[in-house]
Amino acid sequence: MTRVLFSAPKTDWVDYREVLPQALAEAGVVAEIEHTLDPANPETVDYIVYAPSSALKDFTAFTGAKLVQSLWAGVEAVVGNATQTQPLARMVDPGLTEGMVEWCVGHVLRHHLGIDRDIGRTDGAWEPLPPPLARDRSVTILGLGALGGAVGQALAALNFPVTGWSRSPKTVAGLTCLSGEDGLARSLDRASIVVLLLPLTGATENLMNADRLARMARGGVLINPGRGPLIDDAALIAALDAGHLAHATLDVFRTEPLPPEHPFWAHPKVTVTPHIASATRPASAARVVAENIRRGEAGEPFLHLVDRAAGY
Ligand SMILES: NC(=O)c1ccc[n+]([C@@H]2O[C@H](COP(=O)([O-])OP(=O)(O)OC[C@H]3O[C@@H](n4cnc5c(N)ncnc54)[C@H](OP(=O)(O)O)[C@@H]3O)[C@@H](O)[C@H]2O)c1
Repeated sequence: MTRVLFSAPKTDWVDYREVLPQALAEAGVVAEIEHTLDPANPETVDYIVYAPSSALKDFTAFTGAKLVQSLWAGVEAVVGNATQTQPLARMVDPGLTEGMVEWCVGHVLRHHLGIDRDIGRTDGAWEPLPPPLARDRSVTILGLGALGGAVGQALAALNFPVTGWSRSPKTVAGLTCLSGEDGLARSLDRASIVVLLLPLTGATENLMNADRLARMARGGVLINPGRGPLIDDAALIAALDAGHLAHATLDVFRTEPLPPEHPFWAHPKVTVTPHIASATRPASAARVVAENIRRGEAGEPFLHLVDRAAGY
């Protein structure tokens, strides 16, 4: 019998306790799932399904674990844990991707169409200013992974010219794909709307600094559903105050919850959302977890393994 430890807060367990056994059964895996902080004989646990918010921080005792399967797409907190030496897979969940596409398209369209201009208008002013077509508004996505690639394709399907940037050279249908330092400069040059869907690593922290923000088009908009530290906060506020950027929509922050005294809250050109861009959806994510466990049991390679050297 395959032994699976579900190591996540109780609230997550409530969401998974029915769908995970069902998905494992459908994948043909005969498994015993435990939700406990203190499993007996930890050395015989085969798989750890793990939320980085779990109280489990020391993986040393799990000497027989074949895989730690993260329930989150962002794994920076796990990669930095020196006791976590077992193979680590991040979450690539179709439901999570679908949610991220909807959130990003919604926020891009808000700025593209200038929707804020009309909301709450009661002054009787009649200023017919039709918005430009999407085909005339460039969008740049930094990060062309599971999420960035799908968001880029959805925007391209609406006719936005989309440029995407990744670490390794890539081809994504409908997008101009760039990589490397020169590719970053070219992706940002005069970009009207920039969406950050990069993981947080040593190489991406503070990526959006003053110089890179200055490359964006005057009146540009920055949308960050990636991770807070991708942006130099002070440089962003300076770019907004100077009128170089028109708006920033931020879902993620260096400290979460965003402290009440943080200047983002009161800034008229910043929209704060509380890390809700998208969440892992238990029904589809359980199938992803089950497939990786099935693979492990069949001796097949795991999907979505984290490259520790790269940090994601
Ligand atoms: N706000 C939310 O609700 C929410 C929800 C889920 C995820 N997220 C965030 O979204 C991030 C992206 O998720 P994902 O599933 O799309 O990740 P992913 O599939 O691992 O894709 C990451 C992308 O970033 C690129 N990249 C990484 N380091 C880079 C570097 N130094 N320079 C240039 N490109 C780099 C990768 O390049 P390669 O293609 O060359 O590898 C890849 O294209 C997560 O890490 C997480 O932080 C946020």
